[in-house]
Amino acid sequence: MPHADSALVPESITSKSDFWAHVYSQLDALLDGQHGNWVTNLSNAASLIYNSLLAFHSHFGDGERAVNWCGFYLDSPLFPSPQRGGTESRPSSQLLLGPFNGRPACQYINTTPGKSRGVCADAFLQQQTVLVDDVESYPGHIACDGATRSEIVCPLILPGPSAGRVLGVLDLDCLAPAGFDADDKLGLEKIAELLVNSCNW
Ligand code: SME
Repeated sequence: MPHADSALVPESITSKSDFWAHVYSQLDALLDGQHGNWVTNLSNAASLIYNSLLAFHSHFGDGERAVNWCGFYLDSPLFPSPQRGGTESRPSSQLLLGPFNGRPACQYINTTPGKSRGVCADAFLQQQTVLVDDVESYPGHIACDGATRSEIVCPLILPGPSAGRVLGVLDLDCLAPAGFDADDKLGLEKIAELLVNSCNW
C-alpha cells in the first residue's frame, strides 16, 4: 500500500472510537520496521492524524470540526545545541516546535514553572491531557493562529521509576468550539503511548 493511503478512512467507520482504533493501527503499521528516529516517526504521525481527521470529518460534511493544526512540541534537550558542534544538551526549560501539519506556528514555549504560559506548557508540566473547548477563555492560551477556537494537548510520557519523563506534547487545534471530546482524548493518549514506545529518545 502506498504510504499516503494510510490516511484514507473507510466510510464504514462512523464512530470516534472506531476512528481512533483505525488511526492507531495505521500508525502501528507505519512505525513497524522503522529505526526509532523521533523526527521521522513524529513527522508521519502528525501527517497521519491530521489527514485522517480531515478524511473522517469530510464523510459528514463538517470538515471545519476536524483540525487546523496537528503537531508536536518537544523538550529542548532532545534537540542538538548550536554550541559545541551540536553535542551539548540545551537546558530543559522550553519546548521547541517539532514535526507538524498545518500553518506555521510558534517555535518556542516556555516551560519554566511559574513563568510558563499556554495549553502546551500546562499539559507538559501537569503531565496530563488538557482539553480546551474555548481557547479564548483559557488563561494564557498562546494563539499561533487567531482562527483556532478549541484545542487538545496530550503529553508524551516516557515511563520511569518515579513519575516518568515528559518528552513533549502532541497538540491539535480546531476552528470550531469544542472540537475535541473524551473519545479524542482517549484515542490520542493511546497514540502518544505508541509513539513514546516506538522511538529511541
Ligand atoms: N496554543 C498553544 C500553542 C501552540 S499552537 O496551538 C500550535 C498553547 O497555548 O500552548
